[in-house]
Amino acid sequence: MDEQKISVNLRNEELNEEIKTLISSLPSDKDSSGKDVSKYQGCWYTHHALQAVLSFQKNFKPQDTDVIVASFPKCGTTWLKALTFALLHRSKYSSLHDHHHHPLLSDNPHVLVPYLEMNLYYYSEKPDLTKYSSSPRLFSTHMPLHALQEGLKDSTCKIVYMCRNVKDTLVSYWHFFCKKQINDEVISSFEDTFESFCRGVSLFGPFWDQVLSYWRGSLEDPNHVLFMKYEEMKAEPREQIKRLADFLGCPFTKEEEESGSMDEIIDLCSLRNLSSLEINKTGKLYNGRDNKTFFRKGEVGDWKNYLTPGMENKIDMIIQEKLQNSGLIL
Ligand code: A3P
Repeated sequence: MDEQKISVNLRNEELNEEIKTLISSLPSDKDSSGKDVSKYQGCWYTHHALQAVLSFQKNFKPQDTDVIVASFPKCGTTWLKALTFALLHRSKYSSLHDHHHHPLLSDNPHVLVPYLEMNLYYYSEKPDLTKYSSSPRLFSTHMPLHALQEGLKDSTCKIVYMCRNVKDTLVSYWHFFCKKQINDEVISSFEDTFESFCRGVSLFGPFWDQVLSYWRGSLEDPNHVLFMKYEEMKAEPREQIKRLADFLGCPFTKEEEESGSMDEIIDLCSLRNLSSLEINKTGKLYNGRDNKTFFRKGEVGDWKNYLTPGMENKIDMIIQEKLQNSGLIL
C-alpha cells in the first residue's frame, strides 16, 4: 500500500462517532477529485474538514485582536496571507532592521498563517495555539462566514475576505485539485469538474453562497469584514494594500509611503518573488503538498484558454442569477 493510501486510511479511523452519526444524516456526494463530501450548514466539506469545523466551532477561544484571512480555495489565499502577514509585522522586519530574515523568505505563507479547519483543528480537536500568542494572532479559513462566526462567538475579530472571478477560480481549482501532484495526471476532466462546480459541489462550495456570505457580512459590518478582489489587487496593488492596512488598524504613515515601504511589501509578496524562493520551489507543507503547487500563472482571464463559449455562457448565467440584487459584480 502506498504512503498516501495509508495516511488516508489512518485519517478515516480518526473520525469520531459523533461526526459519523452526523454525516449519515447529511446530503452526501463526491467532489470532482473523487473525495466524499457532505453538506453541512449549506457548505460542502470533506469528512475530515467537517470534523475540524465542528471542533473549531466548539473549542476555539477567540481574542478580539485576532485577524482571520478567509477565501474560497484558489482565489488568492496564499497572496492574501503573505500580504496580511507582511503588513501586520512590518515594523519587526522592515528593511532597516532585518529584511533578509523576513519569515516569508524561509516559510510558506500557509505555515505562517495556518488554516483553522485544514490545519489546526484538522489534526487535533483542541490544538495548542500558544505558539500563536503574539498579538494579533493571524489565522485563515475556507469556511463560509456563518460557519466561521459560530467559532468566533461574539468577539470583534477582523475578517479579510479575498474573492476572485469564478471562471479563473475554477480553472485554478482544476489544476490544483484535479490533477496528480507527481505527474500532472488528470484525476477528473475539466468538463466534469466544470459540471460539479456548476452544481455547487466543490470543496467549501457552492462558490456563490460562500462569496455572498462574506459580501453581505462586509455590507452589514464594514469595520469587521473587508471584502477584497484578486483582480483589484492585481490592477491597483498600492490602493488595495492601503485599504487593507487601514482596515487592520495599521495604516501606512506618510514617511512609510514616501520611503517605499509599501512597494517593498508588494514586491516581497509578489508571485514572482515568492515562487522563486527555495522554500517554495522545493519545500512541502505539513500535509505533504508541494509548496510550488500554490504558485501557477496568477493571471486574470486565464479561463479563456479552458472554457468553451457554451461553458462561459452557462456559468455566467448561474452567477448572474445567484448574485442578482446583491450589488456584487464578479
Ligand atoms: P492560478 O492557478 O490562476 O495561477 P490560492 O492561494 O487561493 O490557492 O490561489 C492560488 C492562485 O493564486 C493561483 O492562481 C496562483 O498562481 C495565484 N497566486 C499565488 N500566489 C500569488 C501571488 N503572490 N500573487 C498573485 N497570485 C498568486
